[in-house]
Amino acid sequence: MNIFIEISYLISSVFFIFGIKLLASPKTARRGNFFAAIGMLIAIVVTLFDKHILTYEWIIIGILIGSIVGSLMAFKVPMTGMPQMVGLLNGFGGGASMLVALSEYYKILNKLTDKIEFTTYDTVTISLSILIGSVTFTGSLIAFGKLQGIVTGKVVKYPGQHPLNLLLLLSVVAIAIFFTMNPQDEVLILSIVGISLLLGVLLVLPIGGADMPVAISLLNSYSGLAGAATGFVLNNYELIIAGALVGASGIILTNIMCKGMNRSLMNVVLGGWESAGSSGPAVTTVKGNVKSVEAEELAMLFDAAENIIIVPGYGMAVAQAQHAVRDLFNILESKGKNVRFAIHPVAGRMPGHMNVLLAEAQVPYDKLYAMEDINDDFPNTDIAFVIGANDVVNPAARHDKNSPIYGMPILNVDFAKTVVVNKRSLNVGYAGIENELFFYPNTLMYFGDAKEAVNKLVHELKNL
Ligand code: TAP
Repeated sequence: MNIFIEISYLISSVFFIFGIKLLASPKTARRGNFFAAIGMLIAIVVTLFDKHILTYEWIIIGILIGSIVGSLMAFKVPMTGMPQMVGLLNGFGGGASMLVALSEYYKILNKLTDKIEFTTYDTVTISLSILIGSVTFTGSLIAFGKLQGIVTGKVVKYPGQHPLNLLLLLSVVAIAIFFTMNPQDEVLILSIVGISLLLGVLLVLPIGGADMPVAISLLNSYSGLAGAATGFVLNNYELIIAGALVGASGIILTNIMCKGMNRSLMNVVLGGWESAGSSGPAVTTVKGNVKSVEAEELAMLFDAAENIIIVPGYGMAVAQAQHAVRDLFNILESKGKNVRFAIHPVAGRMPGHMNVLLAEAQVPYDKLYAMEDINDDFPNTDIAFVIGANDVVNPAARHDKNSPIYGMPILNVDFAKTVVVNKRSLNVGYAGIENELFFYPNTLMYFGDAKEAVNKLVHELKNL
C-alpha cells in the first residue's frame, strides 16, 4: 500500500512539473492547467486512500463547500480583481499549512508514551511550517484588504519598523529553540503562532497598495515554502515537491517583476518601499508643445503605414478595450499591414495582464512580442500606437537619473517614425511622474477613453 501511495505521489508530481512547463507558453497554457489539475486529482484521491484518512464524511463536505465557494469566486471575480483573489488563495494555503502543522503537534502530544516522543526533526519542521504559514496567512489577508480597499492602500511607516520586525523574527527563533527543548509546553508553540501572525501583518502593512502585486507574488512563493515545510512535518514527498515548485516559481516571478520595475529583491523582502504612484505630485515638470490628432486624420495615417506596433498598457485594461483593439488589428491586417504587439513585462497591474486580455479577445499569440524580442524593431516602425500605457514607454527611464523609474527597461516607442499615444489626458501613470514622450516632435496624442477612441479609429478606417 505504501509503495502504491509513494508511486502515485511521484506520478502526480510529474504531472505538476509538466503542467508548469506547459504554462510557460500561452499556446500550451490551457493544457498545462489541465495536466496540473490531473496531478492534483491523483494527489487527493491517493491521500483519501491513505490509511490515516478516516473521516470521509468531513472530506466530502469540505470538497463540496470548497468547490462551491471556489467556483462562485472564479466566475464572479473580474479580471481586474485577480491579484486580490490570488492573494486570498495564497493566504488560505499558508493558513492551511499552519493548521496542519499545529494539528500534527497535538497528534504527537496526545500519543506521547515512553516509545513515542517529539524528535528535534518534529519540533523544527513544525515551528518552521507554523512560522511561514502564519506569516503568509495574515500577510496575504492584509494584501487582499489593501487591494480591495478594506485596509488603507497607503504606505504605512512608523519609527523602528524594521528593528521591530527583526526582533519579532528573532523571538520566534528563540522560542522555537526553547520549544525544541520543551516540546510538551503548549504555550511555546502557541506563542510562535501568535507572533508569526503578527509578523505577517507588520511585514505587509507598510507596503503601498499599488505595489501589492509584487508582494502577492512573493507571498505566493511563501505559501509554497509553507506547504513544503508542512510536507517535511508529515513526511509527505508530494507536498514537499509541490510546495518547492510553488516556492521556486513564485520567487522567479517576483524576480521578473522586480527587474521589470527596476527594484531590488531585498527592497521587496524588507517591505515598506515608497509607492511612487501614491506619493502624489509629479517629480519633473516637462514643458513643450503637445500635438493632438483626431480619429479621421489618424485613420489616414494608419492607412499609409506599413509597419505598426501596438503597445498596450494599464489604460487598455481599465477601459476593457481589448476587443476594440482586436478589431483594429483585424482591419489593419486585412489592409496588408504588418501589425505586432509589444508587451512590457510589467505593463498593467499584474503579471501577464496584457497577454491575458489580448488572448481573451482572440488576438493571435504569435503577434505578441516580449520587450526584448521587439525593442530593436522600433526604428523600422512607421507607427508605434501606445494604448493606455505610460510608465513603460517613458524615455526618462533611460536618461533622467533623478527619475524614480531611472534604469527601468522601457519599450523604445520614441524611436518609431511616429508615436501615437492614446489616453484620456496628460495625467501621470502608476509611477506618478510626467512623461516627456507626450511632448516629443514625433508624438501625436490621441485623447479619449481607450475603448471609445479605438472604436472610433476602426470606424474611420472602415470608411476610408
Ligand atoms: P501606467 O503607467 O499606470 O499608465 C496607465 C495610463 O493609462 C495612465 O497614465 C492613464 O492616463 C491611462 N488610462 C487610464 N484609464 C484609461 C482609459 N479608460 N482609457 C485610456 N487610457 C487610460 O501603465 P503602464 O504603462 O501599463 O505601466 C504599468 C505601471 O504599473 C508600471 O509603473 C509598473 O511598474 C506598475 N506595476 C505593474 C505591475 C505588474 S506586475 N504589471 C505591478 C505593480 C505595479 P489618463 O488618466 O490620462 O487616461
